Amino acid sequence: MRTWPIIVAVLALSSLSREQEIAPPPGIEAKQALRLMPWPAGIELQAGSGPMVIDSSFSVLLPDHADHRLEKAAEIFLNDLRRHTGMLALDFHLSDRAPQTGTVLALASDRPAKQVQELGEDESYALKVTTSRAQLSAPTTLGIIRGLATFLQLVAITPQGFAVPSVNIKDQPRFPWRGLLVDSSRHFMPLEVIKRNLDGMAAVKLNVFHWHLSDYQGFRLESRRFPKLQELGSDGFYYTQDEVREIVQYAADRGIRVVPEFDMPGHSTSWFVGYPELASAPGPYSLERRWGVFDPAMDPSRESTYRFLDQFIGEVAKLFPDAFFHIGGDEVNGKQWDANPKIHEFMRAHGLNNNADLQAYFNTRLEKIVAKHGKVMEGWDEILRPDLPKNIVIQSWRGQQSLADAVRQGYRGLLSSGYYLDLMSPAAAHYAVDPLAGGAAGLPDADKKKILGGEACMWAEFVSPENVDSRIWPRLAAIAERLWSPEKVTDQESMYERLERINHWLDAYGLTHNTNYPLMLQRIGGSADASPLRVLTDIVEPSKGYSRSALSQEEPTAVTPLNRLVDAARPESATARRFSTLVEMLVSGRLKPGTEREIRDLLAEWKQNDEKVRPIAETSLLAADAIPLSESLATLASTGLEALDYLDRGERAPEAWKSRQLASVEQAFQPKSQLLVMVAPAIQKLVQVSAGEKPSELSIPKTAR
Ligand code: ACM
Repeated sequence: MRTWPIIVAVLALSSLSREQEIAPPPGIEAKQALRLMPWPAGIELQAGSGPMVIDSSFSVLLPDHADHRLEKAAEIFLNDLRRHTGMLALDFHLSDRAPQTGTVLALASDRPAKQVQELGEDESYALKVTTSRAQLSAPTTLGIIRGLATFLQLVAITPQGFAVPSVNIKDQPRFPWRGLLVDSSRHFMPLEVIKRNLDGMAAVKLNVFHWHLSDYQGFRLESRRFPKLQELGSDGFYYTQDEVREIVQYAADRGIRVVPEFDMPGHSTSWFVGYPELASAPGPYSLERRWGVFDPAMDPSRESTYRFLDQFIGEVAKLFPDAFFHIGGDEVNGKQWDANPKIHEFMRAHGLNNNADLQAYFNTRLEKIVAKHGKVMEGWDEILRPDLPKNIVIQSWRGQQSLADAVRQGYRGLLSSGYYLDLMSPAAAHYAVDPLAGGAAGLPDADKKKILGGEACMWAEFVSPENVDSRIWPRLAAIAERLWSPEKVTDQESMYERLERINHWLDAYGLTHNTNYPLMLQRIGGSADASPLRVLTDIVEPSKGYSRSALSQEEPTAVTPLNRLVDAARPESATARRFSTLVEMLVSGRLKPGTEREIRDLLAEWKQNDEKVRPIAETSLLAADAIPLSESLATLASTGLEALDYLDRGERAPEAWKSRQLASVEQAFQPKSQLLVMVAPAIQKLVQVSAGEKPSELSIPKTAR
């Protein structure tokens, strides 16, 4: 008996509803086909005007009075263009020596950028491209750098060769502070990792590199004044002062400020290995290998602590020209302070009632030192106390409410809550977080202006130089768009379409988020053909949030190799997302020709994949992680195919079958090998719909969040 009329009707209606779809105006469709991220504030395609071809006669034209930074920006642009196109002969010319032939990109800025890039400097630009000539104008060289990034994204291969469409763009950022934090302490990130990520940052118009240089597990900067910091606190993995200068210059050339963070008074074990006298409990100390929050903290009651910090910050302030200096300030558990009678005595003598007061005392002293060396103090939201000077910047990791609290008290603030890349959230989740929404939504405009922007955070407990790019990219591009583009640019589908195009385009910078994936799988598989492992790994994602340690058989530490399936798997599976979209189309009756075919093909591939994975898993300890996942995938695929069969026969799936399958889907979605089989929610929908039920969302199991 046909007892699921809704589905029949939906399937029958699908072609009709397709024809009734209203096509978007051609301009909009053509615009969306552009590979632009972040999306500019204003863009018009010049309909009827042909593209500007970029061949070996293309050149960049500089004004006669070009300053050094403009020339450098053009040089970097041409080098990037060479990397993107494989055309090696491109060059630039000064305007009075313009070549007679070929297409030209002419640059014009009113004034040079500041010698040391400042917060809030004008980054606006206007770009007009016609068939023969492009004009990029900006008030400052910084705007030229942003405009060149846009131009580069517009270069696409066409039947005429590489070309840029005729467009008219006027653009400026929504927020002046758009950053990425890289944690070089938990896992040291070599110079080339930093450089290629700076390239990527510049490509998506980010402008602050927040360098987390010290923590429990490693002190990563060479101090000449206090050499035991790096000699005993780094396992030998640290940046020399020359290397820091190189990175600061590299970033500056790309319009990126570098803000160093030295986390204090907590998160500071690595300092104490060489200088135990800084700590609140006697040593000796050794480098922390575990992940988590630990007791060691600086001793705020001793003058010698401040003398040390004065000299250290004096040394570091010269290395980092940026106006801001991040002192961390997060997660001090106070246990060392509680256990130290001298500290108690000090607190009594100074009228400090609790550890929060003591930390505030420390911060007040520290702020004076930071200011003495010409810097503005920045810290995590724990440092927020009304008695600090109002020019400091609060970076909120604990939520939008604490950001709102900070600006209400008169401080400037930055949002990082919602932008933690280590939590393995989908791009859409980050994209939906707006610094001016949530707790900040009700603020008066004057307070909103104090919200400077945001920073994505790449905490490095579970990333290595090998896979860090894959945790940063491409999701960072979605966050970059949130921070640059107008508030109304929120369409998730458009974001994902463009993100997919940007994803591989970023490969040209030497970023390894795509290239290292097959290499890691190949290593996991040993000598075998790794493609079955890839079929599986394409649809799994690492467990979410901070669940990974709890799901590990052995407590992961700083010496745990990051070479497992969970380290290769991408934070967001494009294949699983595609599958969900197809199933969503099917269950909502918005099928296109071939939708069901595509679903069936994927399910069939997954069902058969298990027997190909097994022989690989038997020969490799690393590939053994795949067994329970592969089994779950095969089960899910069989379930999905059975559900489709019911639907195709126009037969309602029996209650008993449905209950059995729903339980099995739930089981298949439990984390295994610290990974989640991300096609499970879509399979649940197929089961529900085949049984005549309304489809519902299957949420991530609690243990995996
Ligand atoms: C932080 O995540 N503790 C800043």
